[in-house]
Amino acid sequence: MNQDQNPLTDTRGRGLRDLRISVTDRCNFRCVYCMPKEVFGSDHHFVPRQRLLSFEEIQRVARLSTHLGVSKIRLTGGEPLVRRDIEVLIEELSQIPGISDICLTTNGSLLTAARAKNLKAAGLTRVTISLDALDERRFAAINDVDFPVSKVLDSVDYALNAGLLPVKVNMVVTGHLNDDQLLPMARHFKGSGAILRFIEYMDVGNSNGWQLKQVIPAGEIIRLINQEFPLEPVGANHAGEVASRWCYQDGSGEIGVIASVTQPFCHSCHRARLSAEGRFVSCLFAEGGFDLRALLRSDASDEVVVDTLSRLWSLRDDGYSEIRTEQTVGLKKVEMSYIGG
Ligand code: GTP
Ligand code: 5AD
Ligand code: SF4
Ligand code: SF4
Repeated sequence: MNQDQNPLTDTRGRGLRDLRISVTDRCNFRCVYCMPKEVFGSDHHFVPRQRLLSFEEIQRVARLSTHLGVSKIRLTGGEPLVRRDIEVLIEELSQIPGISDICLTTNGSLLTAARAKNLKAAGLTRVTISLDALDERRFAAINDVDFPVSKVLDSVDYALNAGLLPVKVNMVVTGHLNDDQLLPMARHFKGSGAILRFIEYMDVGNSNGWQLKQVIPAGEIIRLINQEFPLEPVGANHAGEVASRWCYQDGSGEIGVIASVTQPFCHSCHRARLSAEGRFVSCLFAEGGFDLRALLRSDASDEVVVDTLSRLWSLRDDGYSEIRTEQTVGLKKVEMSYIGG
């Protein structure tokens, strides 16, 4: 395990910095672009408990991945807060030397004021909350479980009050579902302390029936908001940040756009994903990933696990967003709810 001296890079010279860990494939929402009810209905088989990585296994992978360069962990799902005792996992992760940022991407539905405080106390650095519309009808049509907007807005406040900063709000923008919500969302979050990020709708998985014409390009989003609230670009917080940052010229905060479709950022992609059942996935659009769980449940030593991960990363040549066309959409890809975006 001498990776500390020799920074590991893939075939395109990209290091491994972020590990996105899906802790469950379950979610209490059925967002039409992620877990449509026709595919994720009552007869859908979720990963059974014994096939999910245990907290010990997740912690081991996280610890070993620091030898490859990982310093940031993002917990995702499905909905990560449906996994019982996630605070315990966060506490364990926060004690790993080399991990400086532990983030959580959530739909906000299960975040109470008390839970936000407990998550912070456990060592969570910050949260990102998904919210695709301010209008109740629009939001209900997207989450498909009639979940109210007000509760998600409350969760943003709880996160802000608990100091889970910076709090970010992710809005997936689709031309057919919520493009009329761009300005209302910008108006609402301007000056609120939370950073709103607009995400171009992506063709993740094979369930959402994605079409290029449903994508609203980030350039158009910025143009629209700039007409009402003048913006200026700001530099990235760190190399490889997925969002391009813009701040309001009147000093009332910033927004971000994540333009994975129109301005791919594969050249600086330092992210690997660990699925809920322990597959190591080197790209959001990969087909299946490597079965790390089998290795963890064998007698493999830490050295063997680190060597395996190093080999996988050094062979990596992913860059799906750079080659995306209407034709690649049908390629077999892992579903978003297994790897958490
Ligand atoms: P910060 O660390 O706060 O910048 O957040 P993040 O970008 O790590 O995480 P988040 O979960 O908020 O992701 C925002 C959006 O960017 C989601 O829609 C993700 O699916 C998308 N995204 C994140 N990483 C990648 C990636 O490697 N490739 C692509 N194509 N999209 C990504
Ligand atoms: N395209 C873009 N973003 C998506 N997300 C889920 N599905 C998609 C998609 N098809 C978002 C979620 C969450 C983040 C992790 O990914 O809304 O904010
Ligand atoms: Fe659940 Fe998030 Fe997928 Fe919506 S986008 S179904 S909240 S995991
Ligand atoms: Fe990284 Fe794959 Fe996303 Fe490109 S498409 S940024 S390689 S995860």
